[in-house]
Amino acid sequence: MTHAATANTSAQTPLRIAVLVSGSGSNLQVLIDAMQAGALPIEIIGVISNREDAYAITRAKDAGIEVAVLSHVESGKRMGIKTFEAHANEQLVAWQPDLIVLAGFMRVLSGSFIDNAPAPMINLHPSLLPVYKGLDTHQRVLQAGDRHHGCSIHKVTAELDAGQVLTQAVLSVDINDTAERLQSRVQKLEHKLLPWTILLLAKNVLSLEVDSTSSQATNYLPTLPLQLLITS
Ligand code: GRF
Repeated sequence: MTHAATANTSAQTPLRIAVLVSGSGSNLQVLIDAMQAGALPIEIIGVISNREDAYAITRAKDAGIEVAVLSHVESGKRMGIKTFEAHANEQLVAWQPDLIVLAGFMRVLSGSFIDNAPAPMINLHPSLLPVYKGLDTHQRVLQAGDRHHGCSIHKVTAELDAGQVLTQAVLSVDINDTAERLQSRVQKLEHKLLPWTILLLAKNVLSLEVDSTSSQATNYLPTLPLQLLITS
C-alpha cells in the first residue's frame, strides 16, 4: 500500500488523488480549480461516481479527468455494495493513487474495501466530529441548540465517521439559521478546509500515519484535529 505521507517526498511530485463522489461535486470543483491554477501540488487522476446523474461527472469530464460511473442503480437494478466495491477496487488499483478522497460520497464502504484499497482514504463530513456522525447533521445541530457547528476531515476506517479527525473548520450557529442555511454555510467552509487539508498532506505537514495519541504527536505537534479558523 502506498501512503500519501511517505510516497510523495519530493516537492515536485504531485500527489495523485482519486475522488469518490455522489452529487453536485462542488468540493471536487474546488480541487480541480486549485490543481489547474497550480495552487495545489496534486494530480486528480480519476473520479468514481456511484450515481449516473451526479453533476460531479460533468465537472470531471469538463476538466479532462477520467471518470468511472459505477451506478448503484443500473437498468433499474440496484448494484449491491460488494459488486460496487469490486469494480471500484479494480479501478483504483489501475489508477494507483497516493490518496483517495471521499467528497460528498454517500455510500457506506466495508472494512475490507477500506483495508484493501491501494491508498489511504479521507472523508469530508458536515459536523464537528465526533458529534453527529451519519446523516441530517444540520437538523440535529439545530434541534440540540448547539452554538457551534462546522465540518471535519477524517481518516476513513471501518467504523462510520469514526477515524482519526485531521482538520476541522468551525462556525457559530446564529438565530437565522435553518438546516438549509447551515448546509450552505458549512459547505463554504468545506470548500476551504478540503484544499488546505490536502495541501498539508501533500507537503507532509499532516500525516495519515500519526495519530493524536502517539508520542510524536503529543511531544512535537499540536494535537489533532487542527482547527482552522475560517472567517467569511
Ligand atoms: C457536502 O456538503 C458534504 O458535507 C456532504 O455532501 C456534500 C457534497 O457536496 N456529505 P458536493 O457534492 O461536493 O457539492
